[in-house]
Amino acid sequence: MTETSSQAVPPRHIAIIMDGNGRWAARRSLSRSEGHRAGAGAVRKIVTACRTRGIGHLTLYAFSTENWSRPQEEVNFLFELLVEFLQSELPTLMQNDISLRVFGDVSGLPPASRAALAGVIDKCANNKRLCLNLALNYSGREEILTACRRCLDQALAGGAQPDELTPEKFAGHLYSAGQPDPDLIIRTSGELRLSNFLLYQCAYSEFYFTPVLWPDFDEAELDKALLDFAGRKRRFGGLDQKNRGQRTEDNP
Ligand code: IPE
Ligand code: IPE
Ligand code: MG
Repeated sequence: MTETSSQAVPPRHIAIIMDGNGRWAARRSLSRSEGHRAGAGAVRKIVTACRTRGIGHLTLYAFSTENWSRPQEEVNFLFELLVEFLQSELPTLMQNDISLRVFGDVSGLPPASRAALAGVIDKCANNKRLCLNLALNYSGREEILTACRRCLDQALAGGAQPDELTPEKFAGHLYSAGQPDPDLIIRTSGELRLSNFLLYQCAYSEFYFTPVLWPDFDEAELDKALLDFAGRKRRFGGLDQKNRGQRTEDNP
């Protein structure tokens, strides 16, 4: 096996920080709402593209707990757009065997969004090919804290001992329970930060940052990210395959 082919295991889970809608609009002298609408178009393309490429899990960061600090008008528009998106995308999700999950505290979402999400989640529940996770009202720190609270509740109720808590049990309390950690985290718009996204799950994720603004992120840009990922050497703290047991100048 060549070195390249040994690295080319496709990602099982891709997570995307969809950033840059506002700047995309500003460059065109459009309103921020128009940027978000164009961003929704990119979501449509990328969901289908991931399904076509055999990706099993896709997590899209759509609204952080910190995004509530934006002007009320923008927040309202984003949640109206979400309802519109869910209604228009349901047939595509069904045709493509895609299920939907929410990462985040749904209890804090506007009632119309909650109802639309619950309806689509229910209808898509048996779909198997791709699990689409929408991170909404999401905070990585809050996710970890909530998991800690649940573990504490269980321990206090059942008398479990602290050392009985394993990484697997802990991960079972996260929104991502039952799903693999993201292999690849993409952030668009040139920002080089996580902004409170998947803080527990990103331990061994590969990162791909691109200056492309989210509304311009299309199938070709996704393929660039996948190509880049295919060339990464994932070691998980171990050694490259080729260096195992071999003493070389680089690996004495
Ligand atoms: C990302 O685009 C969408 C959300 C955070 C909801 P932004 O709205 O953050 O766009 P910029 O960063 O202002 O360009
Ligand atoms: C991160 O983008 C959140 C989403 C993409 C939903 P932001 O635009 O909110 O992040 P910061 O404020 O630039 O870190
Ligand atoms: Mg932004």
